[in-house]
Formats: sequence, structure tokens, C-alpha cells
Amino acid sequence: MDAREMKVKAAEAALQHVEDGMRLGIGTGSTAEEFVRLLAEKVAEGLKVLGVPTSERTARLCLELGVPLKSLEELPELDLTIDGADELDSALSLIKGGGGALLREKIVAAASARMIVIADETKLVETLGRFPLPIEVNPFGLAATRIAIEKSAARLGLTGEIRLRRAGEDVFTTDGGHFILDASFGRIPDAEALSIQLHSIPGVVEHGLFINMASSAIIAGPAGARTLKA
Ligand code: A5P
Repeated sequence: MDAREMKVKAAEAALQHVEDGMRLGIGTGSTAEEFVRLLAEKVAEGLKVLGVPTSERTARLCLELGVPLKSLEELPELDLTIDGADELDSALSLIKGGGGALLREKIVAAASARMIVIADETKLVETLGRFPLPIEVNPFGLAATRIAIEKSAARLGLTGEIRLRRAGEDVFTTDGGHFILDASFGRIPDAEALSIQLHSIPGVVEHGLFINMASSAIIAGPAGARTLKA
């Protein structure tokens, strides 16, 4: 089974949790896109749901495939969010933001009664940090914010390269108009402490550590999909 087939397996299993009438947060990334494709088929067959997309990219795909959308302003309380992750551990702490949508993803997940993560088994790690941590920052004061991040991380014994994300020749810009710093700290033994440190830096808009947000995760491997509970 290749990586795409595993993503489809996880997305299929997640679809079982979607019920008629639900208000759904819809994630971003290649795994979430497999979910959108399957959801669109169910909508075409008559399933009634209202989706709130976590990015412009997801919104475009939903509109193209006929999944009805609302904004989070119109639908500020959601029943369920289905989203991918770049990395997760067995306590269901996540690193997200590889696709650059972490801010909207976190706001939408926080507005949802439940969040189900869908991923292939390569994303499951013992300790978070193999994947560089995306940190969304305000463009104003970028250099100062980077130094503050370095100092905060060092207080926790974390060091490593912090790289400004680019999109070809340009600086990558998020849907909210911010930049992303990808921090290669390596293993993050205390994700909660790092989260608190990063949130205390004024130029940090949000970071990709999602702690105590996922209710369950559907992990797909060659043998099929299994569910991890928080
Ligand atoms: C988007 O910003 C991310 O948080 C994605 O959820 C994450 O990068 C997973 O993407 P894939 O499903 O493409 O691996």
C-alpha cells in the first residue's frame, strides 16, 4: 500500500464519524484533501453537512467538488473537525503547519466539540520534533522575534536552525498574511513548556504544537486503519 492509499484509508475511516446535519471543520493538506473527495461523494448522494474550511486551498477544493461551506463567523460552533498532522505522538500531541494553515486549523479545531486526526503511520513518533516546528510570526520585527524564539527555546535546552519558509523566490505568506519560521529543534520532550514559551513572545502569532486538542487519531498502515484515543 503506498502513502496515498494509506491516506485514503484514514480518510474513509474518518468519514464513518460524519453524521447528517453536522457542522464540520475541514482540514488542510494532502490527507485532508482525500477526506474532502470522499465527503463530496457522500454530499452528492444526499448527505447534509456544512463545512468550515481551514484554508483558502481547502475552500477552493470544497467549492470545486460541491461541499457546502460556511465561514467560522457564520458557524462559530462546530461538531467535528477532521484534519491531518505532520507528526503525532501516542498522547495525541501534534505538530501541524507543514502546509502553512496552522493558525486557522487551530482556531477551527478549538471551535469544535471533537477533532479527529487522520494520518498514515509514518507520522506517528515517540517524541515530537523530527518534523521542524512551524511558528507563524508577524512580518513586523521578524529578526527580533526570531532571536526571542531562539532564547526561549534555549531556556528549555532546545537549539537548532530556525529557517524562514520560502515559496520559490518569495517568502511564504499564510492566509492571514503572516510568515512562518520552521524550527528544527529536534526532540521536544516538553511540548507544553515550549508552547507556553512561544505564546509569551509578542511577534509569535501561533505555533504548530496542538496539545490536548485531538480527541482521537485514525492511523492507517498497510494492515488497515486503527484508532488512537486521547
Ligand atoms: C497544514 O497546515 C498542515 O497542518 C497539515 O495538516 C499537515 O501538514 C498534514 O499534511 P499532509 O496530510 O499533506 O501530510
